[in-house]
Amino acid sequence: MSEPLYCIEKLWKRFPDGTEALKDINLELRDGTCTIIAGSNGSGKTLLMKSLVGLVDPSEGIIRYRGKPLREVITEVRQSVGLVFQDADAQIIGETVADDVAFGPKNLGLRGSELSFQVDEILKSLELISKKEAPPRRLSGGEKRRLAVAGILAMGCSTVIMDEPFANLDYPGIIQVLTLIMHLKQEGKTVLVLTHELEKMLGLADRLIILHKGYICDDGDPEKVLNRLKPEYGIRDPRQTYRSVKDCTWLIA
Ligand SMILES: Nc1ncnc2c1ncn2[C@@H]1O[C@H](COP(=O)(O)OP(=O)(O)OP(=O)(O)O)[C@@H](O)[C@H]1O
Ligand SMILES: [Mg+2]
Repeated sequence: MSEPLYCIEKLWKRFPDGTEALKDINLELRDGTCTIIAGSNGSGKTLLMKSLVGLVDPSEGIIRYRGKPLREVITEVRQSVGLVFQDADAQIIGETVADDVAFGPKNLGLRGSELSFQVDEILKSLELISKKEAPPRRLSGGEKRRLAVAGILAMGCSTVIMDEPFANLDYPGIIQVLTLIMHLKQEGKTVLVLTHELEKMLGLADRLIILHKGYICDDGDPEKVLNRLKPEYGIRDPRQTYRSVKDCTWLIA
């Protein structure tokens, strides 16, 4: 089998106050997969996501990206792995939607008509072209998340990691984000979503990982993981409402 995208071995994160936030994390992520990491508040989801791009340094253990220690390839990682934070406002850089999307490719040296063509193509594909000249702060929550993904795609990222992408969104906003995840999958991108809202998208995922108190407590085929779900994980089995795992998405409901 080919080299995994990520390979995490025995990762621990401890803070000076004694908190052990990530404990003995062992994980492999492969290209082109769609994985959900589910865990209740404080389980370590955001810290794990930040570790994947070097925003949090492990206390122990190693993260390899395509077989190489993360620190050795951090520039490549930051260009290839895009994060969408829960608070989309924190990610806004540009004065206008177009400026915001142009920021990454500009840094990579793109200029003039080539730059504006690329920005327009991405804004069209995410249905944000009509907001091109708008100040990003005026966008709705769902639009802001789409804008964050637009910025990532403009950088040419092949992996997209989304932290609680459904938080604070209304029904249309959730559908917008789900449609986007669907498209990312169809384009062969690697998608990692951190959420406890399984009923909204488990049907789109190939794999479900349960994080609980900093430990990976389960990992595998979504149906099988749900069958082993323990009440202490604080995760609701979406099959209480939906007939099967494949039905667990608001996209077709
Ligand atoms: N700088 C820090 N010092 C001490 N503890 C920290 C620090 N940063 C995070 N933690 C703790 O690490 C744990 C995991 O935090 P994290 O933000 O990854 O949780 P999460 O799963 O994303 O939660 P949520 O669903 O609420 O976003 C929490 O208990 C948090 O309080
Ligand atoms: Mg979090």
